[in-house]
Amino acid sequence: MIKFNESHANLKENINDYQSEVSKVHKMIHEKTGAGNDYLGWVDWADNYDKEEFDRILKVAEKVKDKAEVLLVCGIGGSYLGARAAIEMIQGLYPKNDTEVIFIGNTFSSTYMVQVLDYIKDKSAVLNVISKSGTTTETALAFRILKQAFEAKYGKEECKERIIVTTDREKGTLKPLADKEGYEKFVIPDDIGGRYSVITPVGLLPMAIMGIDIKAVMKGLKQAYDDLNTDDLDKNHAYRYAVARRILQNEGYDVEMLITYDSHMTLVAEWWKQLFGESEGKEEKGILPTSANFSTDLHSLGQFIQEGKKVLFETVVTVEKPYLDMEFPYDEVNSDGMNYLSGKSLDWVNKMAFEGTLEAHEVTGGVPNLIINLEDTSAYTFGYMCQFFFMACAMTCYMIDINPFNQPGVEVYKKNMFRLLGKN
Ligand code: PA5
Repeated sequence: MIKFNESHANLKENINDYQSEVSKVHKMIHEKTGAGNDYLGWVDWADNYDKEEFDRILKVAEKVKDKAEVLLVCGIGGSYLGARAAIEMIQGLYPKNDTEVIFIGNTFSSTYMVQVLDYIKDKSAVLNVISKSGTTTETALAFRILKQAFEAKYGKEECKERIIVTTDREKGTLKPLADKEGYEKFVIPDDIGGRYSVITPVGLLPMAIMGIDIKAVMKGLKQAYDDLNTDDLDKNHAYRYAVARRILQNEGYDVEMLITYDSHMTLVAEWWKQLFGESEGKEEKGILPTSANFSTDLHSLGQFIQEGKKVLFETVVTVEKPYLDMEFPYDEVNSDGMNYLSGKSLDWVNKMAFEGTLEAHEVTGGVPNLIINLEDTSAYTFGYMCQFFFMACAMTCYMIDINPFNQPGVEVYKKNMFRLLGKN
């Protein structure tokens, strides 16, 4: 499903030399003995997920699809990025769905809020508010505005059919509110943190409403769980990736740029940045995760990558079979001189761009390249990819003695903001 290739990174150490360290961490992950071990529920989630709740997701999704021209997904960070990454990766940016999805509650931008309210004014909408803590300000602010708009438009009774809450089993303000108002509720498990939660109702409900086969997502997740349930560095490609990152940081590369070659993979990169950035960037350690979408960004960042300061390595996510493809047409006149491509598929052109860029960056530019090859962008591969990156991330963090599951640094801006906002 996912093949990892480090042969273009010119690594100065041998990945297999890390075998004993990796074996120790593998044991820590599976025996749940490392820091933050209360948040390792994602490891065997493919086996242990709540099957009844999963069936309820499917039923609710069918009801929502009938009702909603617009699905509003209100959440931020881990309560937003995974669902959006999945929907865009699997369906592309302009899917032929009767329901359109809009993500909200992930910004304080007043312009965005006012425009969304205006956009949905004459449309039939359903709102899924997602917050594990139930107290995140961006989400709570948007939810209050939307709840009032929904009540004014549909009435309180109809809102029971139009507002769905995904939150903690007990904690936070959303759970009691949902109970009081009679909203449909889904649970974010105690032992799965935000950025690991796309495989729970957090991601699965929006995906299902958008018509994604979430059974296939769970099958991919399970296959990855089985494939990656080994400490053997010759077999576990997620761990090979983690070790390759570690070696590159030892060589002085403190920045990793995740490269995608399809516009509909951009949000996967955003999701990956949150996963690694929030998990690993602590105690003045970690690799800064950044991203670029090629060939678009070859016309901007490409210059720096090729000839700028040698601070970064690239991790390129390639896709074997594109979701959609077409043939480049022949033109009688050929005034643009493009006939040399007629009859070729656009995906082939994209792949040649990748090959040419790889050589330019690796050989001419001396930039190490790691390659993660996905078979396709299906729901199954998405599920597989989640487990792949989760395992790689946990391995990375534990190898440098970091708790992968907290985010103490995120609180600092909140404290300052609350003071300025006059919150008690
Ligand atoms: O990964 C995390 O835990 C965070 O990014 C959270 O998902 C994010 O802060 C949103 O939190 P909540 O779901 O509590 O609103």
